Amino acid sequence: MAITDNGVSLKHLVTMETLSNEEVLGLINRGLAFKNKQADFSLKRQYFAANLFFESSTRTHKSFEVAEKKLGLDVIDFDAKTSSVNKGETLYDTVLTMSALGVDICVIRHSDEDYYQDLVDSRTIQTAIVNGGDGSGQHPSQCLLDLMTIYEEFGHFENLKVVIAGDLTHSRVAKSNMQILKRLGAELYFAGPKEWYSSEFDVYGKYMELDAVIETADVMMLLRVQHERHDGKESFAKTAYHEAFGLTQERYKKLKESAIIMHPAPVNRDVEIADSLVEAPKSRIARQMQNGVFVRMAILEAILNGKA
Ligand code: CP
Repeated sequence: MAITDNGVSLKHLVTMETLSNEEVLGLINRGLAFKNKQADFSLKRQYFAANLFFESSTRTHKSFEVAEKKLGLDVIDFDAKTSSVNKGETLYDTVLTMSALGVDICVIRHSDEDYYQDLVDSRTIQTAIVNGGDGSGQHPSQCLLDLMTIYEEFGHFENLKVVIAGDLTHSRVAKSNMQILKRLGAELYFAGPKEWYSSEFDVYGKYMELDAVIETADVMMLLRVQHERHDGKESFAKTAYHEAFGLTQERYKKLKESAIIMHPAPVNRDVEIADSLVEAPKSRIARQMQNGVFVRMAILEAILNGKA
């Protein structure tokens, strides 16, 4: 059966907070339709997309590029290192330039939290902004691919026990996911170093020791230790972190038969997760990366709907 549209129309996608539950489910279902080759899609005119990455990325950058090309968009090359950013051009002026050139969508990753606010408030900039990660703020496309992976596995979110473990305070993935998972009816638990936990997360779930919650988890979501956001002050040696807070072989054996392991990647092997478990039967890490392409196609389609 060909499915013609996801029914979702977006001007920008900068945070998960502005998406309704219906829009989230619409994007997930459309991502699944693209994946299962059930989606009917054609461009009404020529569209240009530019991926402006000011922080390192493999997955987000390249899967947006694949998604754009699968949809037939023209992708504009941009490398911050060889652009006029080197001459002092601000982010606003880079995006203003893209807009003036007729670029329809800018996917942006930047180290500044909320970098997007003056771009979406601008009366001159016509380009749609898709947030590919803002500092420790939000990472909506990662969140949607995580939700798609959970939904594909279980068919629902209500009452699923989701454990988010690791570098919570620095993780834009954790912040995006905790808000929406709670709203969709999942039961949330947090684990990992206490110093990387904030009481702000109490409204979404409960802090527990990993060993006290692992046996009942449906989803074990591990987070990367964000060394680049620790200002050089490392609190844990690799082995000590792995033994205390990581998914070791011993902990893996305690997981329920139906449980799945997730990690946004890149993975610090033998830190958050044992090297040998990255591709274990319960791991959905490669599936998350695969789903990223399809849910990003759904996001881009929703932006194109917004432009139409
Ligand atoms: N998960 C994620 O955002 O990966 P990249 O940093 O490689 O894009």
